[in-house]
Amino acid sequence: MCGIFAYTGEKDAGAILIDGLTSLEYRGYDSAGIYLPDSGCIKAAGPVSELRKKIPGGLKGHSGIAHLRWATHGEPTEENAHPHSGEAGEIWVVHNGIIENFKELKEKLQKAGHTFKSSTDTEVMPHLIEEHMKAEPDFEKATFKALNEIRGTYGMAIQYKNEPDKIIAARMGAPVVIGLGEGENFVASDASPILRHTRQVVYLHDGEVAVLTPTIHSIYTLDALKVERQAEEVDWSTEVAQKGGYEHFMLKEIMEGPEVVENTLRGRLIPEQGLARLGGLERVAGRLGEMERIIIVGCGTAYYAGLTGEYMLEEFSGLPVEVELGSEFRYRKPVLNNRTILLAISQSGETADTLEAIREGKRRGALTLGIVNTVGSTIARETDAGVYNHAGPEIGVASTKALVSQLTALALLTIFLGRQRTMAASEGSEIAAALLALPEKIRMILETREAIEAMAKKYAASRDFLYIGRKYNYSLAFEGALKLKEISYIHAEGCGAGEMKHGPLAMIDENFPTLAIAPQDSVYEKMLSNIQEIKARKGPVIALTTEGNTDIESLTSDILYVPKTIEMLQPILNVVPLQLFAYYFAKEKGLNVDRPRNLAKSVTVE
Ligand code: G6P
Repeated sequence: MCGIFAYTGEKDAGAILIDGLTSLEYRGYDSAGIYLPDSGCIKAAGPVSELRKKIPGGLKGHSGIAHLRWATHGEPTEENAHPHSGEAGEIWVVHNGIIENFKELKEKLQKAGHTFKSSTDTEVMPHLIEEHMKAEPDFEKATFKALNEIRGTYGMAIQYKNEPDKIIAARMGAPVVIGLGEGENFVASDASPILRHTRQVVYLHDGEVAVLTPTIHSIYTLDALKVERQAEEVDWSTEVAQKGGYEHFMLKEIMEGPEVVENTLRGRLIPEQGLARLGGLERVAGRLGEMERIIIVGCGTAYYAGLTGEYMLEEFSGLPVEVELGSEFRYRKPVLNNRTILLAISQSGETADTLEAIREGKRRGALTLGIVNTVGSTIARETDAGVYNHAGPEIGVASTKALVSQLTALALLTIFLGRQRTMAASEGSEIAAALLALPEKIRMILETREAIEAMAKKYAASRDFLYIGRKYNYSLAFEGALKLKEISYIHAEGCGAGEMKHGPLAMIDENFPTLAIAPQDSVYEKMLSNIQEIKARKGPVIALTTEGNTDIESLTSDILYVPKTIEMLQPILNVVPLQLFAYYFAKEKGLNVDRPRNLAKSVTVE
């Protein structure tokens, strides 16, 4: 996720800002930039070290704003890197988030004579402020007006060349921390770049604006009403701050689930018409309507996302779907033609096997699509069109929030393709409403994490685990087992519940626990029979089931309750307790949860 950092004080702002960017690097980014009223703007695609190379003698000035960009709109190029300025190069903005109504605003501004240099949503902001300053040359007032016009999410820092001491920061849905020093003040996306200077911080709330000079910090609502807020003392280390106060990135990323779903959905649903609006597919929308078949490719967790996607897409779009491991597909002679969609799912967008599958598909004439989290990555560039996840960077090697966003994106794609075919508007509306209700339900699950932790501790001495599920939750049996084995190093197996009797049941005894994913859906009765089979062999069973289902108690040793949603979306909720269970299980064993042995986050080799 983008990182912002700003400074106003007495010291060498250039050095402080570059240092601050370095401590924000962990967030993941693709370009960097800095603006100081006394030195101008410098940007570089690639790492902060590239930016450093461009300023060998340092920079002049005692204030400035800086940014690490994780691309959302526009390729990760130097032009698209922040800060962005208006026409006159006097107003400068760094921004983390998405301005949803940027197209309308841009058109209006273009009509008023503004020219734009980048393809970012952010660039409208300095132009908008500039436009308001034409009527009344008051930087603060103009900024408030502009903030009231934009819609979407932002953590922002804004500077005006002619008032170099002043920084304006604003927050809506993307975090902003103000650091209060002696004769100096800071703005950042999280506390990590601030902590080496001061431990006194103020967290902005959504809809708040801070106006800072070296000695003053004032907080206002968007209506310019003053807000009184006490500073807090942070006793975290920089490393803990980067993890948002959580012990591991994996836990932080699981906890981000609700925002991840919100970000994947943002601006993409028209619930009353039962439609999904996917900008990245617009240019191939016509061709998509003519497609006859979908093949999904992915590796690891992304492959399991595909398996759930298969059920969604077949049920609601009527298109036949197959799911393939990238590592198998590329060595076969797949039968494809120009009526086949080859859909790659990849968090990193760099997984070699998935990429090669896409290249092979292209050679054979398929229409290639991507559900990719990393903007500008190779798969995102090489596919014909796609849907970005907007989940922000994932740092823990074991994929968690990326899967939540992949499943959400697959549901959007299902509405998109379904509505081009047989799906009724009412059906699209029902799915859209259920999608919009997911974040709150994930929050409810996250609140039960202490109970999940206690359960994980209880089972942490187990040497084996079986996970079973059916239909929409079939793939979660494999994903649940994968999470456990990759970070706990114990033997865990996933199995379609109906297949148990063909082998895995032989392993079951009183020391071999099973986690049964058994929400009250269309295959619930079947799952109950499978649980009975295990119980008859004295196997302990943890059931993951629908909130309020007490019937299952007599059959199971422990229960994980999950709120209900429509059947096709239930995996998006069910996966969260599975991730938490694996996390606490590995933590209890004292293992390096974020960096499991022998594994890599991005597998760019065969
Ligand atoms: C690695 C990671 C997994 C991930 C898989 C696919 O094995 O450890 O978490 O699911 O690669 O990666 P991708 O970036 O293509 O989603």
